[in-house]
Formats: sequence, structure tokens, C-alpha cells
Amino acid sequence: MENFRFHNPTKLIFGKGQLEALKTEVPLYGKRVLLLYGGGSIKRSGLYDQVQTLLAEADLFVVELGGVEPNPRVSTVNKGISLIKEHNLDFILAVGGGSVIDCAKAIAAGSHYDGDVWDIVTKKVVPTSAVPIGTVLTLAATGSEMNGGSVITNWEQNDKRSFGSIYTYPKFSILDPQLTFTVPRDQTIYGIVDIMSHVLEQYFHASENAQLQERIGESILRTVMEVAPKLVNDLENYAYREAIMLNGTFALNGILSMGVKTDWATHMMEHAVSAVYDIPHGGGLAILFPHWMEYVAATKPEKVAQLGVRVFDLHTEGKTEAELAAETVAALRAFWTSIDAPQKLADYNINDEQLDLMAERAMVAPTIGNYVPLTKEDVREILKRAL
Ligand code: NZQ
Ligand code: ZN
Repeated sequence: MENFRFHNPTKLIFGKGQLEALKTEVPLYGKRVLLLYGGGSIKRSGLYDQVQTLLAEADLFVVELGGVEPNPRVSTVNKGISLIKEHNLDFILAVGGGSVIDCAKAIAAGSHYDGDVWDIVTKKVVPTSAVPIGTVLTLAATGSEMNGGSVITNWEQNDKRSFGSIYTYPKFSILDPQLTFTVPRDQTIYGIVDIMSHVLEQYFHASENAQLQERIGESILRTVMEVAPKLVNDLENYAYREAIMLNGTFALNGILSMGVKTDWATHMMEHAVSAVYDIPHGGGLAILFPHWMEYVAATKPEKVAQLGVRVFDLHTEGKTEAELAAETVAALRAFWTSIDAPQKLADYNINDEQLDLMAERAMVAPTIGNYVPLTKEDVREILKRAL
């Protein structure tokens, strides 16, 4: 392993009816709250009213900002920063999925910086403090509820970038699986793919001797694959929602990346596709991941084969690593197809017109990924195969 430090300061508050904790948690950090939410799902479900009531009972001053987009925009982040400054707010409560939480993190860091928040998102400036945030998670997918990462889109520049900071970890996250009952089937599927992809991005690392991290990752994949097919046909089942929610949080809270050089090339490619075509993150991953895996297996099949044996129960007798790797890719694709995840960029009406722009946007460094570092030509080829 590489040397590492692990520090995750987020308090998880998990289970039925835990929303009540807002009344005691928020006042620990602030009195003047920015309530941030998305396009209206929390109003339709009644969660918005419940949150407002609890904040009022705790005697908190509340300013709200709704309308955070899926794939949140830097323009919305700037609106939030203005509200924080105008009303002198000292806490941000994000109620929603990964997009709302990511937007909260960028507002939090940007409010303590005098320049353009895009400098922080593009990592030109490193945050040295942030407004504290808390979250109420309504969609299991990103893991943003227990990490410091944030992904923000600059639509004018067709650019989607991520930053992370120890200052933007939520102080607390409330995870009540019942709040995810209303997530539609397609968003539920995207969330499942995103969770599995987070494990894979870290499983395909370029370090040695990380058995514990790999075995935890395999457990998450096996659990998600056991539950997901049942959940997509029974969306209000508490046990299934509960399992997916906890797996989603642990897939990206730092434990799988302890001491390893993780990959993340597929996420960089997906972010480039969403930056140009504004597609759902999990949908893009379902299309790109099998193509990435097939591409890297041509030079480095061993980890792909290991995944197939340990997670997809492939039989090894008489097979080469390359043959096992090919079977693994087929098994992953078959699983995602079985839960109705998309398979081709054409499913989102994407053709080859913007291939060069997408390949360019994916290249946030001269090469991306660590398992097999990819050049822009490699990325273009993978995107082309995914059409
Ligand atoms: O906006 P509302 O009306 O709330 O509707 C949302 C949105 O349309 C809806 N939704 C959320 N909870 C719901 C619900 N609908 C009904 N009932 C509920 N309980 O679902 C739609 C998608 O929401 P969004 O927050 O965009 O989804 P997700 O959680 O998948 O977040 C995606 C964003 O996170 C980034 C992605 O790139 C994308 O921008 N990521 C963030 C990461 C991180 N911070 O660690 C890592 C990920 O890899 C990812 O890149
Ligand atoms: Zn993701």
C-alpha cells in the first residue's frame, strides 16, 4: 500500500424517522441557515414542509434556494454565495440527491473565497475554510453525503469539474431510506450503477497489497447486485432501499481508497459526456464502464479477471486471464442490461459530432486513470466504441 491518512468527520444519522435530528444537529453549527434543494421532488413528497417545520421549531432563521439542477451549475452556486453574503448565513442544509449536496459544498467553499468560485472547482485555488454544511439525503447514488467531493458544471464552457476538501465534508448526514421511496425507477437504476462504478474506480487501482480494500469493495458489489434486481421491481421496499443507501455511502466515503492509487478515468469520461450533452451521470457510466474495462483488459487483464472470479463467480478451469476478463465484461454488461440501464450513447441521441470535444474535456491531465493511464487518443477510441 501507499502511505495514507484516513479521516472522515461526517456523522451519519441513519434510519426511520431520523429527520427529527435536524432540531438538535443544525443548532450545533449555526443559527442562520441556507436551505438548498432541487427541482421540486421534496415539495411533492412533503419533505420540504417537514424540514421547514423542524427548522422553525429549532428557532432558526432560514433563507431558501430551490431549483438546483441535476448536474448542478456554477451559476446556481453563485446565487447561493450571494445569499450567504447578503443575509450573513452561517450554515447550509442540503436536502436532496448528490447534485444538491455538491452545490452546497461549492457554495460553502466559495463563500469563504473572494475570487471566482470556478477557481476552486477547477482546483486552481485550494479552500482553507468553508461554511459548515449538513445534508438530508433523498437519493442513494453519489456518496456525496459522506465525502468532501463536489462536481459542478459550467454550462457556458461545456465543462464539468470536481474538487474536494476536508472543509466540505458534511458535519452530519441524515439517511432515512424512506425518503428514497419516491425516487423513480430510472433514477434508482442510475444510482445503482453509480454506486457500483464507485467501487470499480477504486478497485482498479495501481497499488499493491490492498486485500482489505478490495474485499470490502467486492462485498459492496455483491450486496448491491443481490438487492438491485429486487429493488427495481419493488421501489417502496424498506429493506432494499436501506441496503442500497448504506452501500452507496460506503462505496465512496474513503475506505476503499485508503493506501491505493485509484483510477477514475471512466468518471472523467462520463463528466465530459454530461458536460456536452447533460445526460444523467449513472446512465453515462453504465454505457462507458464496460467499454473502459474491455479496453484496459487488452493490456492488463489480471484485475478484470479477478473481479469476474470473485464477484461474478466465473469458473477458471482451462481459461486464460484474457478469456476470463472478456467474460467479466460480458457479465457486467449483462447485469446492467438486466436492470434496464442504458447501453449505448445513441440511447441518448449522441453521435460522433462532438467526439473530439468530449475527449478534450475528459483530459483534465496529460493522461487520465492509474490502472492503465489513458491518452486523449485512448479516450476518443473508448468514446467511439460506446456510440
Ligand atoms: O431536483 P429534484 O426535484 O430533487 O429531483 C431529483 C433529480 O431530478 C430527483 N430526486 C432526488 N431525490 C428524489 C428525487 N425524485 C423523487 N424522489 C426523491 N426522493 O432525482 C434526480 C437526480 O438527482 P441528482 O441529485 O442529480 O442525482 P445524483 O444523486 O445521482 O447526483 C448526480 C450528480 O452528482 C455528481 C454527478 O456528476 C452529478 O452531477 N457526482 C458527485 C459525486 C460526489 N460528490 O462524490 C461523485 C459521483 O461520482 C458523481 O460524479
Ligand atoms: Zn459517480
